[in-house]
Amino acid sequence: MSAPYLKIENLQVEIEGKQILKDFNLEIKGGEIHAIMGPNGTGKSTLASALMGHPKYEITGGTVIFNGEDLLEMEVDERAQAGLFLAMQYPSEISGITNADFLRSAINAKREEGDEISLMKFIRQLDKKMDLLEMNQEFAQRYLNEGFSGGEKKRNEILQLLMLEPKIAILDEIDSGLDIDALKVVSKGVNEMRGEEFGCLIITHYQRLLNYITPDKVHVMMQGRIVKSGGAELAERLEAEGYDWIKEELGIEDEKVQA
Ligand SMILES: Nc1ncnc2c1ncn2[C@@H]1O[C@H](COP(=O)(O)OP(=O)(O)O)[C@@H](O)[C@H]1O
Ligand SMILES: [Mg+2]
Repeated sequence: MSAPYLKIENLQVEIEGKQILKDFNLEIKGGEIHAIMGPNGTGKSTLASALMGHPKYEITGGTVIFNGEDLLEMEVDERAQAGLFLAMQYPSEISGITNADFLRSAINAKREEGDEISLMKFIRQLDKKMDLLEMNQEFAQRYLNEGFSGGEKKRNEILQLLMLEPKIAILDEIDSGLDIDALKVVSKGVNEMRGEEFGCLIITHYQRLLNYITPDKVHVMMQGRIVKSGGAELAERLEAEGYDWIKEELGIEDEKVQA
């Protein structure tokens, strides 16, 4: 089996007629961890939602190839089944479905009919991953994200990541609202996935997450596209100096916020 990859070329995305992503290019291969940093409102979450096939985000141009297949032609559930995973910036609460039930059906949706995971095996895996994330066992029986604190939601997204073992994961601000201990636990979960069979895109505002998850590549996103790429040192410079030097270097004007 060849290593997973995601190749995005010249992607254009509109929301309600407004162009958000412009000529967006990025390639992620198995074994690689990429980070995207950028000011608020540049389209980072839009990228994540568009790749998962959220109906509100209209693709008006470009191509996305996921492990040799045309991702944009796939239905939303097919994308997940094929091994694309999104940890959302704002995970939704779903009442009436327990975390454990949700995870088990998501795992089974990726498997052939008749080859469902046994309850025993599922519970063993769930216990193991929850231990790793220092999660209280009661979370398995709680309704999905209902009443979870911000930090618990993020930890839960990483539990999903570890249980579903996707080929490519997009993690949108999994570090926001985390205290330092939770940040370390979440990073441990992501590092656990590292390997040739896994590629990852981390969207973050803060360099501090990247102290725990060392990225292979760091990209700066502004006004709907990647404007600069580099190694982990780029994130450190952004943390220290902000984004102004990049704007100056590239002659980018601040966009006026429309009231
Ligand atoms: N569902 C939506 N409806 C209308 N506008 C949206 C929606 N989602 C995002 N936008 C707009 O798209 C732009 C990019 O937003 P977003 O992708 O969330 O930025 P980021 O994640 O980089 O902070 C913003 O101007 C935002 O207001
Ligand atoms: Mg966002």
